[in-house]
Amino acid sequence: MNKLFALLGLFLFVCTLASCGENGAEKSAPAPEAEKPGGLIVVGFSQVGAESTWRMANTKSMKDTFTEKKGYKLIIRDAQQKQERQVAAIRDFIRQRVNFIVLAPVTEHGWDEVLQEAASASIPVIIMDRMIQIRDEALFVSWVGSDFRKEGDVAVAWMGKTFTGKKDLKIAHMQGTIGSSAQIGRSEGLREGVAGNAGWTIVLSASGEFTQVNGKEVMERFLSERRDIDVLYCENDNMAFGAIQALHEANVPYGAQGGVQIISFDATRAGLEQTLARNISFNVECNPLHGPRVEKIIRQLQSGQIPAKVEHVDERAFDAATISKEEILSRAY
Ligand code: AHR
Repeated sequence: MNKLFALLGLFLFVCTLASCGENGAEKSAPAPEAEKPGGLIVVGFSQVGAESTWRMANTKSMKDTFTEKKGYKLIIRDAQQKQERQVAAIRDFIRQRVNFIVLAPVTEHGWDEVLQEAASASIPVIIMDRMIQIRDEALFVSWVGSDFRKEGDVAVAWMGKTFTGKKDLKIAHMQGTIGSSAQIGRSEGLREGVAGNAGWTIVLSASGEFTQVNGKEVMERFLSERRDIDVLYCENDNMAFGAIQALHEANVPYGAQGGVQIISFDATRAGLEQTLARNISFNVECNPLHGPRVEKIIRQLQSGQIPAKVEHVDERAFDAATISKEEILSRAY
């Protein structure tokens, strides 16, 4: 009976792939486990880059999961934050006929053509971390990542509580890579918060590309324009570290004890240390440990099951009162 269900699942998955073809190319089921030399399952992973501590933890999670010891060959391509490099990497994976493609997309748009090519080659594509916007959702089997919009809403709810009664709240908005789901969701949350709170104004806005270097540079620019900032809404920890450096060097007070209140995202170990030290006032978690989650999807596909199309990760948020030193030390990223 179990075998029957497994076969049925595999049949449905093959049908899903077959239905996504626009050019009528013939398709078959994904390559079975033992088809590759040495019996290894070959996973081609197109990674955004190495722009942040989060990203490096994410790459490590994939490396730690997809080991040869466990029967995998993991091929990683670092796109250095450039979509065209990701497209080239996927085409290369198709040429190599990998068993699975894992894509952590830099931005949401522009994937239709290359994912159609992967579908035509019958290679299942799993999307990890950021989401994609695509005409035909059958071109990827599953997505696992964070609910970035919810992260923004959590930060805005904290602002609402913290600044109740404040008539005039000046917000500097440091965005991540424009067009990435992490930027879109977190920025949307803030925009909606501003629309719903008379007196809240975004007075400065620029992208720091999720890096510490750009975070510092953008903050220096902000400070050269004005210094009467109440809140810095900073879309990741590394940019917040750069902003802290700039504030410190410019002698502008910041932190939970007074001055510019910094809100950050990721809650990496270093980010939580800054939160405990009250330099960052509020930090919303974004979990990068997706390796085992992606592996679960691959296992499901191999046993003919249909994985969930969308899986959000549970996440928390912290201020200095809600974290302990022990928790920071035990953090894996
Ligand atoms: O997509 C997740 C985001 O990308 C993280 O918040 C950021 O640090 C990373 O670069």
